[in-house]
Amino acid sequence: MKAVVYNKSAKPDRLVYCDVEKPAPKDDEVLVRIRAVSVNAADYRSMKMGMIPARKIFGADVSGVVESAGKNVTLFRPGGEVVGELSGCGFGGFADFAVATEKALVMKPAGLSFVEAAAIPMASMTALQALRNKGNIRQGQEILILGSSGGVGTMAIQLARHFGAVITAVCSTRNMEQSRSLGADRVIDYTKEDFTAGNRKYDLILAVNGNYPLLKCRKALKPDGRYVLVGGALSQIFKAIVIGKPLSVGRKKILFLAAKTDTGDLNYLLDLAARGIIKPVIGKYFSAETTAEAMKYAAGGHSSGKVVIKWNPEG
Ligand SMILES: NC(=O)c1ccc[n+]([C@@H]2O[C@H](COP(=O)([O-])OP(=O)(O)OC[C@H]3O[C@@H](n4cnc5c(N)ncnc54)[C@H](OP(=O)(O)O)[C@@H]3O)[C@@H](O)[C@H]2O)c1
Repeated sequence: MKAVVYNKSAKPDRLVYCDVEKPAPKDDEVLVRIRAVSVNAADYRSMKMGMIPARKIFGADVSGVVESAGKNVTLFRPGGEVVGELSGCGFGGFADFAVATEKALVMKPAGLSFVEAAAIPMASMTALQALRNKGNIRQGQEILILGSSGGVGTMAIQLARHFGAVITAVCSTRNMEQSRSLGADRVIDYTKEDFTAGNRKYDLILAVNGNYPLLKCRKALKPDGRYVLVGGALSQIFKAIVIGKPLSVGRKKILFLAAKTDTGDLNYLLDLAARGIIKPVIGKYFSAETTAEAMKYAAGGHSSGKVVIKWNPEG
């Protein structure tokens, strides 16, 4: 089968589109014929940090068709259309076929295309868990999304709108209209305006992208407000982890999310998408052969929405 394999000495990108052996599912695994796969920070940041999957193939967010299933698999049968998040079972999505445990997969709703479905898992589960689990989001709350235009941010706006929050989104000039159309009530252009300049206070601040001073964010919280760090610059993540706890003394909370694959959450999100309540925003498409370019583009940190590889669209 064809796959994009990590090779430390391969120039220029260390990712090579080549022939490799098709994986064989173990008794508790499902073999999926990949139709689409989206790129996440988990792919390019793991590669940058030298955390290479055992099979040397990245790619976590996948959609495809079940080719075969091990004898202990009960939930999936050949021919079933599935969506998965494979970071917990060794990645492997940049390939014609990938193996996954049942815990990493759910059935794809008929109303969603493979491409749309592959854009959902990691970014959308992250947005959901940040807003609901850590942020305790409630109807009518004032929420600020720092970095509203990437994969996580575009989904965070739509989910916050679904939960009935009043949304202020922070992004650059070129993405302002996108944030507005997804449901933001106010949009702040980070290239022109400091979001902390006014006196507005928030029940919840979601730090998704960029590098915004933690103390300024804390000051912008209401007395019971929560700041939930999802991602952004590594220095922002580091600071929130180190000084988040001491800054959480009192009623304001500084929290960090480590998103987890949860098939209940994934089913919930796919159902919202199938009903048109949320829609994955896909900024750019690539082909299987140009996966290395897709990784480089996504790692640049300026994609609007998700980056999706149409791996085997005819399939
Ligand atoms: N905690 C977890 O469990 C978890 C899970 C998944 C992802 N993450 C993290 O979450 C972050 C977002 O992931 P993602 O997939 O959404 O990333 P992404 O799609 O690559 O984000 C790209 C977007 O970020 C925007 N951006 C860049 N610099 C910005 C700035 N200074 N202020 C505001 N926006 C800025 C860009 O807009 P412009 O070009 O217009 O600036 C672009 O639209 C990453 O850091 C990732 O590592 C964490």
